[in-house]
Amino acid sequence: MRIEAIEIKNYRLFKDAALSDLPEFCVVVGANGSGKSTLFDLFSFLKDALTQNVGAAVARRGGFRELVSRGESGPIAITIRFRESGGRLATYQLEIAEDAGRPVVHREVLKFRRGQYGRPWHFVDFARGRGSAITNEAAYGQEGVLEKREEYQLEDPSVLAIKGLGQFKEFRVVAEFRSLIETWQISDFHISDARPSSEAGYSEHLSASGDNIPQVALYLHEHHPDLFGQILTKMSERVPGVSRVEAKTTEDGRLVLRFQEGSFKDPFIARYVSDGTIKMFAYLVLLYDPRPHPLLAVEEPENQLYPEFMHELVEEFRDYARRGGQVFMSTHSPELLNGAKLEEIFWLVKQDGFATARRASDCKLLRALVAEGDPPGALWKQGLFDGAGPR
Ligand SMILES: Nc1ncnc2c1ncn2[C@@H]1O[C@H](COP(=O)(O)OP(=O)(O)O)[C@@H](O)[C@H]1O
Ligand SMILES: [Mg+2]
Repeated sequence: MRIEAIEIKNYRLFKDAALSDLPEFCVVVGANGSGKSTLFDLFSFLKDALTQNVGAAVARRGGFRELVSRGESGPIAITIRFRESGGRLATYQLEIAEDAGRPVVHREVLKFRRGQYGRPWHFVDFARGRGSAITNEAAYGQEGVLEKREEYQLEDPSVLAIKGLGQFKEFRVVAEFRSLIETWQISDFHISDARPSSEAGYSEHLSASGDNIPQVALYLHEHHPDLFGQILTKMSERVPGVSRVEAKTTEDGRLVLRFQEGSFKDPFIARYVSDGTIKMFAYLVLLYDPRPHPLLAVEEPENQLYPEFMHELVEEFRDYARRGGQVFMSTHSPELLNGAKLEEIFWLVKQDGFATARRASDCKLLRALVAEGDPPGALWKQGLFDGAGPR
């Protein structure tokens, strides 16, 4: 399953923006404050709306007045076009308005884009807690079969229909979309959090901040020793001076990582190694996840890492996207961009306080220069991504 396009209206600085033809691996560049983090937050917003409700998702972001684009009254509209695993294009549309000081679902639609036979079916079509849904989903696409609909009233107009209606669990497309949003993950490592602590415990997936790295490392060490071995080999190849990494389980079940530096006799335990070493280790643990997230965003992975590794890191995240589903990455690193293909690069332009998105491969000049052998990062640095710079 892959998201192919995103349209946003009235969500913070995205008063009216769209990204289309999104590949499996997407790199987003833009000046500070141009909306990279806000774009990722859109998925967190959907996750909050789905796992809780629209009211909670809005409240978490300072309330409707704060969230809606300045000067606008709404509704906030998010449209996600995605290709479901059966290969068909589907659209999920969510509009949120404020009703007597309370955020409500103004409209919610899940539909297939084109019907091979007749008009596309609206699987879910709700407005303010009332609406209808298809009851014969499995028959979609069969010749001569007509849709069967039923009317519903939700108890709470702030709950999404795709959550509130229990029977959607059996609708494959709804289930797939829900699972994509619910398992969505952002990775925004903060080295102070990612520093291995002394906590014991167990985690299969790395958290957003990387604060559970010892637990995930322990999980990989015990359940996927082959993958763990590959991570350790990569570490010794990539971190200058580190000739060997050892993992030892202590009596109380903790994992202690010890990094052997060529010039010292005794290994360092992870708490005392450099930020770059920890960060590289954190990315490798994320990348070697045996069950990758279907949708992952990575915030500026270049910090604390050597520029020479950016090319490889891009390739590894591209592989991760191929295994898992889709990866979005924000960056300020020309080296990282040099490793990306033009079709993978998008840039954000902020004008008069509001942002829009551009696709690098839509620009004729960039296409021509890349075809002649110029790497994208160098072109970005020269200012050829019109409006992507801070001025
Ligand atoms: N409701 C709003 N309307 C318009 N702009 C907003 C709104 N809320 C936040 N912003 C602006 O959006 C920007 C947030 O950008 P951000 O996503 O953090 O950028 P980046 O991650 O690219 O540095 C800030 O400049 C902030 O002022
Ligand atoms: Mg940011």
